[in-house]
Amino acid sequence: MILAIETSCDDTCAAVVADDGEIRANVISSQGIHDAYGGVVPELAARAHAERCDLVVADALRTAGIGLDDVTKVAVTQGPGLVGALLVGLQTAKAIAVARGLPLVPVDHLDGHVLACTLAPLSFAPPFVALVASGGHTFLARVDGPDRIERLGGTLDDAAGEAIDKGARLLGLPYPGGPHLERLAADGDPAAFAFPTAKGVTGLDLSFAGLKTSLLYRTRDLGEAETAARRADLAASYQHAVVETIAIRVERALRETGLRRLAIGGGVAANGALRARLQGLDADVAVPDRALCTDNAAMIAAVARHLPALPADAVPGLEAYATGQRPAAAVAA
Ligand code: KG4
Ligand code: ZN
Repeated sequence: MILAIETSCDDTCAAVVADDGEIRANVISSQGIHDAYGGVVPELAARAHAERCDLVVADALRTAGIGLDDVTKVAVTQGPGLVGALLVGLQTAKAIAVARGLPLVPVDHLDGHVLACTLAPLSFAPPFVALVASGGHTFLARVDGPDRIERLGGTLDDAAGEAIDKGARLLGLPYPGGPHLERLAADGDPAAFAFPTAKGVTGLDLSFAGLKTSLLYRTRDLGEAETAARRADLAASYQHAVVETIAIRVERALRETGLRRLAIGGGVAANGALRARLQGLDADVAVPDRALCTDNAAMIAAVARHLPALPADAVPGLEAYATGQRPAAAVAA
């Protein structure tokens, strides 16, 4: 039984996953304290993780109906993310592993989003193309095995979730804007306004900066009253452009790899319009539950199922990494 902990951003998460990939508990405690700031405040996130992490772990064990005696492996997000936030999860995981003599598996957060679909009941198996679209990252990968994840392309500027959150903010919606934008868009016409989809960006890279700027100019042109009156149409058209920007690259990736299997992950993959658009493609599409798309610890266990544990003497010195690729020294031996 794997106990996994994820604290890379503003959700304190713990999960219990059986060795066969069945999720026994997937506890997500959203901090909800950053909304007033329009974004995550790193110091506040780290403090909130410190207050909740033990409680969330206890909750996951209780929900799974097991005790620490039943845990055979501890998994934890090592990076990328906010270092102060990551350290809380790492310290908790290290303490449990050392005190109980359990193997510890450090996991890359993005690999977690890529492999969330491999958990039951989907149990989607490689090879497949993975789309990860979250608040911090947006990329496409070719997955030939749990430890064979090859990046095909990614955003050149903003992540999809960042573009959604910034657009939502321009429309006066609270942070994080994704779910609010989706609700508002439901009452609007996606064809009312034409926003750019970065069609000119060739290959499998994406770009959202032009889209965000285009909404800014459009709201300026319309003026306050007209923008307010047409908020739903603006939301629907903006969401449509985000979805198309992504879908164009996904179609290219499927064509170029010759694979007809697609898995989606990351917070933006919770979006109904994106899910529907991608499910309409000529491919076998794995669409995980929304709770497996946004940040969660079950996806961290999904990766740890297939990775070797750190040697016991390397556990105390294990450090977090903030961005990019994990440093070579951080890779489990
Ligand atoms: O993966 P995630 O939970 O955290 C990161 O690792 O970033 O993704 C969060 C992002 C936010 O930008 C949020 O607005 C977006 O996912 N999001 C959505 C929806 N739910 C969350 N975007 C569009 N539609 C949604 N329903
Ligand atoms: Zn994430």
